[in-house]
Amino acid sequence: MTKNLHRQQFGITREDRESLLNQNSKLIWFTGLSGSGKSTIANALESYLHDREILTYTLDGDNIRFGLNKDLTFSAADRTENLRRIAEVAKLMIDSGVVTIASFISPLISDREMIRDIVGSENFLEVFVNTSLEECERRDVKGLYKKARAGEIDNFTGISAPYEAPLSPDIEIKTEELAVNEAVNLIYDHIKSTIVTK
Ligand code: ADX
Repeated sequence: MTKNLHRQQFGITREDRESLLNQNSKLIWFTGLSGSGKSTIANALESYLHDREILTYTLDGDNIRFGLNKDLTFSAADRTENLRRIAEVAKLMIDSGVVTIASFISPLISDREMIRDIVGSENFLEVFVNTSLEECERRDVKGLYKKARAGEIDNFTGISAPYEAPLSPDIEIKTEELAVNEAVNLIYDHIKSTIVTK
């Protein structure tokens, strides 16, 4: 489908935008079970960065599935397509100079490798929000585990669809041991020297 296409070069580059913003962009990718705390930590991290005058944008699984990806289900193939599109969006956002935060279950190692390949491994930071299935089910913030156990939701991650934990994430957050602000501090310590230039 790319046969008659030619890449256009534009004068203003990512580096120009980054220097305008006094920051370096990056994709901070949260993976973990539904209800593990990804969005909560992503939200707190975004506020923390915003307070430090870092321009951010957060892409969130539930939200994106209301719009761009509302045609997709939770089959393995549709999850891959969900994540492929998000990775392409994230690639554009990285190019815009914005520190991009993404919060998606992204249950398969192969899909997360695809994301890393699309955006470039130097731009990608994998954060594993490690909350046990038992704890996610106990919290059941959205009431989805109860429905999944009752057979009302197909392909529910952790119940009737797989979750493959990262083997060597850049950062691991054990939410049963760490408070939200501690998780944010851990991530900030890790990214500060890369993203903050002022
Ligand atoms: S992903 O697997 O394709 O990465 P994504 O992060 O976009 O998933 O969406 C996950 C959110 O969709 C969950 O937090 C939950 O609220 C909702 N959801 C609805 N059905 C399912 C399902 N079958 N499995 C997992 N999450 C589901």
